[in-house]
This record gives sequence, structure tokens and C-alpha cells, in this order.
Amino acid sequence: MSRLKDRIAVVSGAAAGIGKAIAVRLAAEGAAVEILDIKDASDAVNEIRAAGGQANAELCDVTSEEQIAKAVAAIAARHDHVDILVNNAGILSGKTPWHELSYDEVNRFVQVNYLGYFLVSKAIYPLLKKSEHGRLINVASRTYFLANPGQMAYVAAKGAVMGMTRVMAKEMGDDNICVNAVAPGMIATEGTLAHSNEEAFNRVMMNQAIKKRGKPEHLAGLIAFLASDDAELITGQMILCDGGGYLH
Ligand SMILES: NC(=O)c1ccc[n+]([C@@H]2O[C@H](COP(=O)([O-])OP(=O)(O)OC[C@H]3O[C@@H](n4cnc5c(N)ncnc54)[C@H](O)[C@@H]3O)[C@@H](O)[C@H]2O)c1
Repeated sequence: MSRLKDRIAVVSGAAAGIGKAIAVRLAAEGAAVEILDIKDASDAVNEIRAAGGQANAELCDVTSEEQIAKAVAAIAARHDHVDILVNNAGILSGKTPWHELSYDEVNRFVQVNYLGYFLVSKAIYPLLKKSEHGRLINVASRTYFLANPGQMAYVAAKGAVMGMTRVMAKEMGDDNICVNAVAPGMIATEGTLAHSNEEAFNRVMMNQAIKKRGKPEHLAGLIAFLASDDAELITGQMILCDGGGYLH
């Protein structure tokens, strides 16, 4: 498939997990991928290049405006525009009752999972505006709808991402940029495996209409579709990809 031939895509948090699968899939569909991650992303870059795709990575903490500016300058030196931005870099949550959370713990989720998306979007916007196929896709979470007890900080930050997505969709309509959010169910990655065991993954799966375990590749496929011309009239939406675990 070459739906994204010659498109330039930036994916945050693509050194591992869902972000890596997104980067691999967008590259497989023809996009040149630029990865922003706080960790070394050479595994993802090498995998994409070995398959004949194009990829580069910049080390970057998405909470630092200074590091983002440096990374975006490096991307701008390679490309005169960006077609696709996927905000995905995030931290996952264990369970703590809301009244036991400290200011710093809540602030960390707001900084990474919400302000990180805002700061990267803002820095990429001048390049995205130059695209004729602009797409901004935010990885949110279906946890927002489930309101999982013990995950207040995470859920609130992901809810803010949904609000941000809706307003950005309206504001960027005149630039012809489609802005959408995707909401994964529970997917086994380094981030979730740190907080959940096999039994939890199976319990979640048994509550789904389609009883299959969610994989990073499921999200990657949805994002490749949203990035493609087939989705040119879809904007301001939040699309769940959780096997029908939550119906809204
Ligand atoms: N895995 C799930 O079940 C699930 C469910 C719903 C939503 N999500 C969301 O999907 C996204 C990816 O999650 P994942 O499960 O792949 O997590 P993960 O922990 O496996 O990977 C996250 C990636 O983001 C990077 N990252 C973290 N903080 C960063 C920062 N400050 N700056 C730059 N990069 C940073 C990490 O280095 C890593 O490469 C997150 O936004 C998460 O909230 C995941």
C-alpha cells in the first residue's frame, strides 16, 4: 500500500510501544517518518530503514519547549513541510486514590500527556500549515470514558486532549488540517505491563464485543487511515479502537 507516498510524518513517543508501531506502519505506507522521543529510537529507525522506508529520530522531551524547538529545527532542515503529526508520547498510570495524589504527580501527567501534545503541535504547526494533506492525530485513551478509579491524573489529562482536539479541529479547518483523536483500549506495551498483569489484560478482553487482545498494530492501522486521503472529511472526532469494550 502506498497511500502515504511522499508524505512527511512526525510521531512522538515512537521509540517503543504504540508509537513505534505507528511509525513503522506510516513508513510502510510510504511516509518519511520523523520520531521525537526522550529515549533512543534507533530500533524503530533501523527497522523502518531495513524494510526500505525512510526514518530519522530526534531525542526530545515533549515537556521541554527548548528541546522541541531544537528537534523541530532539525526536521525543518530536512523537510520544508510536515503532512502528519501524531502526538503519542505519554506516560501510563498505576492506581492511586485521587486524594492521595500529590500536586507533583498530577502535574507530571498534565505536563507529559496534555501539555506535551500542545507544545509539539504548536512547534510543528508552521510546517503542517504548508501541507496540502494536513493531519493532526492525538492518541487519547478510552480510559476517559471508563473513568477508571485510581487513575484520576491520567484520565483528566487524556480528557483534556479530547477537548484540545475538538477546538483545534475547528481552528485549523481553514488550513484544511483534519484533527482527530484515537482512543485505544488496553494494549500490552512496556508502559502498561509496568502496571498490569496477564489477568488484567484477559479481564479487559472478556468485556469486549470482539474478544481479541488489542495490539499496537490495531492503532497503527486506524492512524494510517486517518492520515490518508480517504479520511479527508473526518475531523474533530474521537475514535475508539477497543474491540467494543466501551460503546458510546
Ligand atoms: N497501551 C495502552 O493500553 C494505552 C491505552 C490507552 C492510551 N494509550 C496511550 O498511548 C500512548 C503510547 O502508550 P504506550 O502504551 O505505547 O506507552 P510506552 O510507555 O510503551 O511508550 C511510550 C513512549 O513515549 C515516550 N515518552 C514518554 N515520555 C516522554 C516525553 N516526556 N518526551 C518524549 N517521549 C516520551 C517513551 O520513551 C516511549 O517511547 C500514550 O499516550 C498512552 O497514554 C496507551
